[in-house]
Amino acid sequence: MQDRTPAPADLEPIERASVDELRALQLDRLRWSLRHAYRNVPHYRAAFDTEGIHPEDCRELADLAAFPFTTKDDLRKNYPFGMFAVPREQVSRIHASSGTTGRATVVGYTAADIRTWSAVMARSIRAAGGRPGDRVHVAYGYGLFTGGLGAHYGAEALGCTVIPVSGGMTERQVTLIRDFAPDVIMVTPSYMLAIVDEMNRRGIDPRATSLQVGIFGAEPWTNDMRQEMEQRLDMHAVDIYGLSEVIGPGVAQECVQSKDGLHIWEDHFYPEIVHPETGEVLPDGEQGELVFTSLTRQAMPVIRYRTRDLTRLLPGTARTMRRMERITGRTDDMIILRGVNLFPTQIEELILRTPALSPHFQCVLSRPGTMDVMTVRVERRPDCPAAQSPAVAADLGALVKNTLGVSVDIDVVDPGGVERSAGKMRRVIDERPHR
Ligand code: DLL
Repeated sequence: MQDRTPAPADLEPIERASVDELRALQLDRLRWSLRHAYRNVPHYRAAFDTEGIHPEDCRELADLAAFPFTTKDDLRKNYPFGMFAVPREQVSRIHASSGTTGRATVVGYTAADIRTWSAVMARSIRAAGGRPGDRVHVAYGYGLFTGGLGAHYGAEALGCTVIPVSGGMTERQVTLIRDFAPDVIMVTPSYMLAIVDEMNRRGIDPRATSLQVGIFGAEPWTNDMRQEMEQRLDMHAVDIYGLSEVIGPGVAQECVQSKDGLHIWEDHFYPEIVHPETGEVLPDGEQGELVFTSLTRQAMPVIRYRTRDLTRLLPGTARTMRRMERITGRTDDMIILRGVNLFPTQIEELILRTPALSPHFQCVLSRPGTMDVMTVRVERRPDCPAAQSPAVAADLGALVKNTLGVSVDIDVVDPGGVERSAGKMRRVIDERPHR
């Protein structure tokens, strides 16, 4: 693999600033953001007033803990534009999350917000190993989803040549990778696997393509999956994180030279970790729910937004800004199976340690009798004979039982037997009757 570490001189000054400089900037910006939200968004004014707290009460960063949280539900109640802090004519772009569970959540950007977002995305792509002049194949979906356009503007801002493919049409993805010879691909990790399968089907060696860097995010994935990708594609595989409520992709990015978790672009997004049930702020290093406060957003500031993503904060390494560990899962994706808590990422790790199995899998929950049952549906690799499937299933079942302490059913299916997704993969299928 090529060395893709950016030269220190190419970093922005704030990426090289001391922690003290960073904290001073954050406090200034936090006080602005609290005032801006309070003055211009009725929801924040009412929420702060109910708590008896005022933006001027924030004198140091730790004072943020006294301010009320914002949830997805607050955004839904203010659907569509109630959370906007600027007159509608100043909103130059709208995005929205799909809203599979209820109303879509809508987010807005001023022209300056779009510039900020492009800048943090450019910074992310550079940290991932992308360089001006690189060809960037964007296979995140374009549209209301923030993935495609976020990646697109960031790659342009960095000075790359953007290839705006969007998600889907897997055969064409492969043709364009072969013909346009991109250096960087930006795509969900699950869809990258589908693209690799298609290369294999067409007799194209995935290790021989032009790709040097994959910037994978929008869904949880594991270090074992990184190894799989790097091995199968002979390129760097790094993690990118973000969510539409906070800006989109580009909130945090893993650095190519360290691959040790994601540096949060703390000059724009202030992170906290809270206990998922009590809401108490936890010290750095402890696992909990990630909460973000925007520091510079104009059109739609968010104050203490509960992401439902579980991780912990770690000190900076390749940058002074803090890192977040790879997301284990979302509080809403946690499976409670006969009293044991587990996440699909834990299953992914075990599958990837089983050489006969491919990383295409889903967890299906059902209740045939009185007890919940989880079936892991997973594909065997093409080079594993079908006759071996029962033995492989028994091995994985034992591995899950020994590692996670719970019995699950394993259904090893033929290659292609698990649905493919061109974007975020649905890992959990809940077929249990509603309680
Ligand atoms: O998924 C933004 C994005 C696009 C991020 C492209 C990275 C790349 P939403 O659709 O609002 O936005 O979904 C946000 O996706 O709260 C996490 O649960 C999950 N997520 C995003 N990135 C990661 C990641 C985009 N790297 C939700 N690891 C978030 C794990 C992720 N989960």
